Amino acid sequence: MRKPVIAGNWKLYKTTPEALELVTSLKPLVENNQGVEIVVAPVFTVLASIKQPLAGSPINLAAQNCHWEEEGAFTGEVSPKMLIDAGCSHVIIGHSERRQYFGETDATVNRKMKAALNAGLTVLFCIGETLAERDAEQTLEVLKTQICGGLEGLSNEQLAKVVIAYEPVWAIGTGKTATNDQAQDAHSFIRGVVGGLYGPAAADAMRILYGGSVKPDNIKGLMAQPDIDGALVGGASLKADSFAAIVNYQN
Ligand code: PGA
Repeated sequence: MRKPVIAGNWKLYKTTPEALELVTSLKPLVENNQGVEIVVAPVFTVLASIKQPLAGSPINLAAQNCHWEEEGAFTGEVSPKMLIDAGCSHVIIGHSERRQYFGETDATVNRKMKAALNAGLTVLFCIGETLAERDAEQTLEVLKTQICGGLEGLSNEQLAKVVIAYEPVWAIGTGKTATNDQAQDAHSFIRGVVGGLYGPAAADAMRILYGGSVKPDNIKGLMAQPDIDGALVGGASLKADSFAAIVNYQN
């Protein structure tokens, strides 16, 4: 059985007081949910301040990015070791906004994944096609390239701490969710690619999240698909009631 993961990607939102207010409202709404791996990913500056308030709750802490070196002369970067120090158990790597605006490639994503996994973090590894790629019927090819590039050189043991997040770029922040069938088709393809690389047991165990305009009113339909194991949520994770409604989709 794959344990579902519902992760909130706060992007470039929430100062420390705002983040504290959000987690204070969120905790009682999700504290009895043992069936879902719950994750929130605030900005770096907020991480250490919400470590303590989250202690003893089922909410795990993630960063939205990391560097591949442990330490050194790399001005402005934050390493996996430092994320663990700040209270993180998870990290998002390869989000499309980082690929689009900050020049991340499959090769840099791969270096970051290896560093994060070696440090003991669970990685939420993001992939997804743009609208132009979907229109040109290149979706499957793009996904395969991103998966092979991102996972290159990872062992089966390392793969066990990877969660894939399929986020079609055209569905992020647009209110335009992929249909349940479009998402299921992509997820089933992704599971097949993982199986080709790591074998059927690894593919069966891999959690694959959907991301892109996930809301309380579409989560149930998405989660009913056999290959959808959770969600990476942007906009709807910024309010306690909407994120809790997504986390508690089984209620
Ligand atoms: P969205 O963002 O839910 O606001 O579409 C998802 C994401 O970018 O992870």
